[in-house]
Amino acid sequence: MQAAVVTVSDRSFRGERPDGSGPVLKALLEGAGAEVVEAIVVPDDPAVIAQTLMRLADALRCELVITTGGTGLSPRDTTPEATRQVIDKELLGMEIAIQQDSLTRTPFAMLSRGVAGARGQTLILNFPGSPKAVRECFAVVEPVLNHAVKLLRDENPYAEAEHQCRPSHSSS
Ligand code: MTE
Repeated sequence: MQAAVVTVSDRSFRGERPDGSGPVLKALLEGAGAEVVEAIVVPDDPAVIAQTLMRLADALRCELVITTGGTGLSPRDTTPEATRQVIDKELLGMEIAIQQDSLTRTPFAMLSRGVAGARGQTLILNFPGSPKAVRECFAVVEPVLNHAVKLLRDENPYAEAEHQCRPSHSSS
């Protein structure tokens, strides 16, 4: 799977704070067998975030793009709004799964507004901006990433994992 990591942080973009969560996310993706074709730091600017997501999806044809940061409530936190601008399908189930797990770890998860969705054949996920949150959120989504990417490519994911995910009502 070809993946990209987008760290959204004004301070990291300006070089005032090292990007802690981007490298963690890259390592997690590589550990899961993905090829990380780009890891980029962008400012908390919704136009730049949206443009970056569109480039990674449309030009680079990444199958998975994960952002970290900018999901909260401060005035510059606009990653969810920028993501909503570019996705054509929202994946509420992944958002709920992340929130459900995160709420068991910290009440501050209530303050994260991360979006999950697809733009064409690219799955886009927003994670919060700390290395801890990135590890926790990645563990939630990892079991379904390959399956989701295959569905977006219109491949049959059931061929390999029939017992795990075939709908119980299916007769074929
Ligand atoms: N979710 C998980 N799983 N683990 C965390 O540590 N931190 C929360 C929340 N979600 C956290 C989490 C905190 S402290 C904040 S402020 C919000 O995510 C928003 O973070 P962001 O603005 O860096 O995206």
